[in-house]
Amino acid sequence: MKDAAPQTIYLKDYQPFGFEIDKVHLTFRLNPEKTRVISRIVFRPNPEAEERDFFLHGEELDLIWAKIDGAEVTPILEDGGLRCAVPERAFTWEAEVEINPEANTALEGLYMSNGMYCTQCEAEGFRKITYYPDRPDVMAPFEVRIEGDEKVKLSNGNPGASGDGFAEWHDPWPKPAYLFALVAGDLVNHPDRFETMSGRDVELNIWVRPGDEGKCAFGMEALKASMRWDEDVYGREYDLDIFNIVAVDDFNMGAMENKGLNIFNSSCVLASPETSTDGNFERVEAIIAHEYFHNWTGNRITCRDWFQLCLKEGLTVFRDAQFTSDMRSEPVKRISDVIALRARQFCEDNGPLAHPVRPESFVEINNFYTATVYEKGAEVIGMLKTLVGDEAYAKALDLYFERHDGDAATIEDWLRVFEDTTGRDLSQFKRWYEQAGTPRVKVRDTYKDGTFTLHLEQSTPPTPGQDVKDARVIPIAIGLLAPNGNEVVPTQVLEMTQANQSFVFEGLASRPVPSILRGFSAPVILERESDNAERAFLLAHDTDPFNKWEAGRALARDGLLAMIRNGAGPDDAYLDAIEAVARDDNLDPAFRALALGLPSQEDLAQSLYEAGDTPDPQAIWDALETLKQAQAQKMQDLATRLYAQYQVDEPYAPNAEQSGARALANAALGMISRVDGGALAQKQYDNADNMTQQLAALSCLLKAGKGAAAVTAFYDQWKHDRLVIDKWFSLQILQADPDDAAEVTQILTNHPDFTMKNPNRFRATLGALTMNTAGFHHVSGVGYGVLADWLIKLDPINPQTTARMCTAFETWKRYDETRQEMAARALDRILAQPELSRDTTEMVTRIRG
Ligand code: ARG
Ligand code: ZN
Repeated sequence: MKDAAPQTIYLKDYQPFGFEIDKVHLTFRLNPEKTRVISRIVFRPNPEAEERDFFLHGEELDLIWAKIDGAEVTPILEDGGLRCAVPERAFTWEAEVEINPEANTALEGLYMSNGMYCTQCEAEGFRKITYYPDRPDVMAPFEVRIEGDEKVKLSNGNPGASGDGFAEWHDPWPKPAYLFALVAGDLVNHPDRFETMSGRDVELNIWVRPGDEGKCAFGMEALKASMRWDEDVYGREYDLDIFNIVAVDDFNMGAMENKGLNIFNSSCVLASPETSTDGNFERVEAIIAHEYFHNWTGNRITCRDWFQLCLKEGLTVFRDAQFTSDMRSEPVKRISDVIALRARQFCEDNGPLAHPVRPESFVEINNFYTATVYEKGAEVIGMLKTLVGDEAYAKALDLYFERHDGDAATIEDWLRVFEDTTGRDLSQFKRWYEQAGTPRVKVRDTYKDGTFTLHLEQSTPPTPGQDVKDARVIPIAIGLLAPNGNEVVPTQVLEMTQANQSFVFEGLASRPVPSILRGFSAPVILERESDNAERAFLLAHDTDPFNKWEAGRALARDGLLAMIRNGAGPDDAYLDAIEAVARDDNLDPAFRALALGLPSQEDLAQSLYEAGDTPDPQAIWDALETLKQAQAQKMQDLATRLYAQYQVDEPYAPNAEQSGARALANAALGMISRVDGGALAQKQYDNADNMTQQLAALSCLLKAGKGAAAVTAFYDQWKHDRLVIDKWFSLQILQADPDDAAEVTQILTNHPDFTMKNPNRFRATLGALTMNTAGFHHVSGVGYGVLADWLIKLDPINPQTTARMCTAFETWKRYDETRQEMAARALDRILAQPELSRDTTEMVTRIRG
């Protein structure tokens, strides 16, 4: 609960702070309930600033004393901070405050997790540690002294003196307060070393609670691979003597890039074959890379203000995706990313929470760590790279690092380096940062006398606060195939800049089949009349793996929509085409596993809604079940063959090759289980020696209604392991029948291992309910009710996680009146809570519309 009155902050109001900081020294006297923080900060007037208002942010701090140049002062304490009269020259501010880490359940600032001290300061958590200008454009070198009995005491930068009951750290690189971190506790480390490109030796550590040492090796390899990759691909070298990663159980998000001391949700760094799935390994690798890459894109070059969040997040997501593509399969990574983008970002961009990649206002910045800022922000960079080409992109990035190292930069700065290196005018391109909403691109084609013409029309529907949208620059990668399946025009990029635009291809012997938006070259919705025959053709012949997959997806979607709308039966064209793909052993098994997947319930609901229909979640679920059942029946023989063929004989390794084989075999197991009642799944469950196999089998057993024994056995086997038990909670809810999902959730919230103080456990339970789409949107309203009850309970404890989970309601206006009424009631009930947090108030207000 914040006591500052909710206030909207605008990008246009940006003013530099009136002072610069030469140096920060912090002393922490650790105590679970009464930690003292003594700060000594050298300020000087900022010549660039017009105002000299000495306002320091501070929340939930007990001020003990304050001094300026050694003389005690009495600042005026206000909501959210303090003000003080200060001299018109350089001066030293000192203060001592008391804070209570034990009582900090919001997990922002300094808090305790399992007896260990840790911090989370991004975006505005540092103000809960001491009085400070807590804004990213105020950068300073930090010196930190930690006093306490804990075995391990860490902060940013390089280690200084240490001894009985104290440890000192010096971070020479000026940084904003949001990158500050402190960790103290009885931790153990998994150590390693790295030699940088210029031959400097860096000490690496992953710090964990005793007992978790065995889960660090993979993360360490991923860290070293990331460090090497950033040198090889971006020429970026690490810049301190030590790099520490700490695993923390209670964490609001994935991980945090604090300078030299990354703090991770334990679920995003710990991994072992027995306890982690292939998907978990890949995620750990990607997040370690992401946080490491922030050292240059985020830390050395940071953001001027929080409106520029995409400057560091979009770019760093883009970089980590490049890394994953290089380490694993590029097409598989691209397809998975687009599936996620459509599921989360398109949903956001087409609903009440739509906002530009660079928002223009916010109430609570924590509510803007969104799929739009991160994932669409990365897509925008991908488009920029496509438009200027790889070479110019590399040059622009070099200039960016050279020109802005040490800066708190803006999107304008970022675009300018591209303009300066290429001579291009990017003012129209900038609309991608400024305008919310997903553009629709309508495509028609004509063919006459060897000339093929594509007619494109773009438009973007209004979003909250933005009624009119201008045409954007859209890179549309395209190739043309001849009727015999040969590619007659290889991939080229069309640059669409007008609302209506045609592109002409001449000299074709016959009417080609176009493959449009290859590699998903822009985050748009492509609208094109097409038929089953054309889709099956592209699925069979397209040389672009993304569009090959997309053709299968479109076939599946159209078939499903017909089933939902007019009770049609499963579409044979789809079943035949997808079986041919699954059968083709020349195709990557991971690709085939993706091709066998079906559009999500959310995806189908959005398609129906866009077409003017009211989606019925139960009907969507039924159609998906019917299709999966038909597919299982039809593909029995093939599934049996694939299952046998793609068993991995070598010892478990979480690499792309093995993961792909397991993904395909487990897709086959899913089909087999729909026919054999779970016999094979039980066998796999009993023999599994890794979590990927064990969890896939458990999932099939639950689906087949044969999960009871395995659920008990699984719990007994893993009750000591929090991260595995999170899986146990969520899988039971995800696999529950829609009619039972809310009840299963409620039963599990009564389990002794359920706690709402741990965000992972809360997400594994209530978050899983929101992902059981038909269960959450159940016509009885019980799904909405259960979620609202728990959000109301969680808000006073942890506003950030509460606000984030409110997004489950963001699609409520798509549905029928009955559901809308019940959702509105749930939202109003949340909003009526007397002391509702700023985070949740903003979210629910926006969603309610
Ligand atoms: N910067 C972190 C990352 O993406 C995430 C911080 C999220 N902070 C928040 N308040 N939600 O790597
Ligand atoms: Zn990030």
